Amino acid sequence: MMLPWAAAALAVLSACPSAYAMPPLYQPGDLDNNNGTANGTADGNSTSTDPMAACKLPAHINVWLSSGFAPNFFDCVPSQGTVQGFMFFVDFPDARANTTEVSPKGIYDSIVPAANDWIKTSSYGQVSLDIAADTSKFHRMPAATSSYGWESMTSEMHAQYVQDALDAYLEDQALPKAIDVLYVMAPPSASGFPNSLTTAFNPKTRPKSAGGEVMVARRAVTMGIDVYDPSHGYRVLDHETGHTMCLADYYPTDRTNSLGYFVAGFSVMGDSTQPGPDHFAWDKWRMGWLPDMAVECVAVSDMMMTTRHILTPLEQTPESGKTQAVVIAVSDTKALVAEARTRNGVDDQFCGPGVLLYTVDTQLSSGNGPIRVLNNTPDVYTCGGYPANRAPLSFEEGRSRSLTAEEFSVTVSLTDQVGMDQFIIEVKRI
Ligand SMILES: *[C@@H]1O[C@H](CO)[C@@H](O)[C@H](O)[C@H]1NC(C)=O
Ligand SMILES: *[C@@H]1O[C@H](CO)[C@@H](O)[C@H](O)[C@H]1NC(C)=O
Ligand SMILES: *[C@@H]1O[C@H](CO)[C@@H](O)[C@H](O)[C@H]1NC(C)=O
Ligand SMILES: *[C@@H]1O[C@H](CO)[C@@H](O)[C@H](O)[C@H]1NC(C)=O
Ligand SMILES: [Zn+2]
Repeated sequence: MMLPWAAAALAVLSACPSAYAMPPLYQPGDLDNNNGTANGTADGNSTSTDPMAACKLPAHINVWLSSGFAPNFFDCVPSQGTVQGFMFFVDFPDARANTTEVSPKGIYDSIVPAANDWIKTSSYGQVSLDIAADTSKFHRMPAATSSYGWESMTSEMHAQYVQDALDAYLEDQALPKAIDVLYVMAPPSASGFPNSLTTAFNPKTRPKSAGGEVMVARRAVTMGIDVYDPSHGYRVLDHETGHTMCLADYYPTDRTNSLGYFVAGFSVMGDSTQPGPDHFAWDKWRMGWLPDMAVECVAVSDMMMTTRHILTPLEQTPESGKTQAVVIAVSDTKALVAEARTRNGVDDQFCGPGVLLYTVDTQLSSGNGPIRVLNNTPDVYTCGGYPANRAPLSFEEGRSRSLTAEEFSVTVSLTDQVGMDQFIIEVKRI
């Protein structure tokens, strides 16, 4: 979950702490205010001769976490390379950590290495998490869990929570050097904090605290107790880390429907409890994990006849000559994407292999369905929690081999398959 808000100054990265190392002291010279102005492409004025240009739908600056290219959002954590994180642990007067049952180090060990393996696998080794931690104790928060209003939290209230946590930590420890992500962990007893949140602003210490107002990180992630629920587990940290890179929520944030209402179990940014939670090819392309060569771009306006494509499963490491996504653009705000999902990588529990189709709409904000999985397979619960987990086109009995996206005036059909390595599709204009 990520609450919209404006932002302030920007931290420049510096030396990397390693896990469990004591944090080096913050240096005032590490601050650099560039106002967070990213390269704007919000007007869609693509001047390049890039053959993929029609498919690289630009992000819209006035749409909260618009799922397009070149996001214009403030100071996102880079989606390639090492994420420098720092984690500390808090508890509350009304929700003390029971230290005979839990320890900061035990929590760290049960979550961070697994979350790091997950994102390394999903990113084909392009992202790793280097999360140093203070595991000496749970730092006591000044106020009770109930006082933070978690259920109806605003961004300003969230900032108060982060500042209280920093105050509690700073009583005992020095501030970590400017980093990408600050992770604040609540204990399993903090039942008032059912879910985790990521800031859209740079967390800072209070102006009145020793040393004055100081930038701490590009983003703060405050963990709720969902991370201790074995069905979500460490993947909550991967979901929130996705937000730090400015990915949207793909579940309906108004919560009037199930978490899988828009995307079934196909993204960690939707319902992370599901068996096929890898990031979509669309997001992997946007984050630089899939190179352009792994994507075939079809602009519907140029399309005279049927095109054929051979899809290599998304979970395989990109290789020259292999295609892992077909993007069919109908406008500069909408596209249809085809990718093959199999039981590999972080989808190793997946049970509905085949060619997944979904729409992307850069004008829909986070939580309002910017990505929507298309499904015309009859509802049968045989794979995880959602019938649409069997939406991918497949030759398996009871599944669909072809799907028409009326809005896009195209039909996509699975015409052949070589084991679980090649899925041959036809895209036909109707
Ligand atoms: C930040 O933006 C404001 C308003 O656009 C501008 O006046 C100021 O010079 C900018 N600061 C920096 C450091 O770029
Ligand atoms: C904007 O794009 C140009 C050209 O791609 C690049 O050199 C520059 O570093 C970018 N600036 C920012 C703030 O991303
Ligand atoms: C946008 O495109 C128009 C028409 O092609 C051109 O005149 C204008 O200079 C472009 N603007 C930018 C910022 O590239
Ligand atoms: C802490 O956990 C231990 C072991 O489960 C239990 O015996 C004890 O009652 C707990 N203490 C509190 C204050 O809940
Ligand atoms: Zn979220």
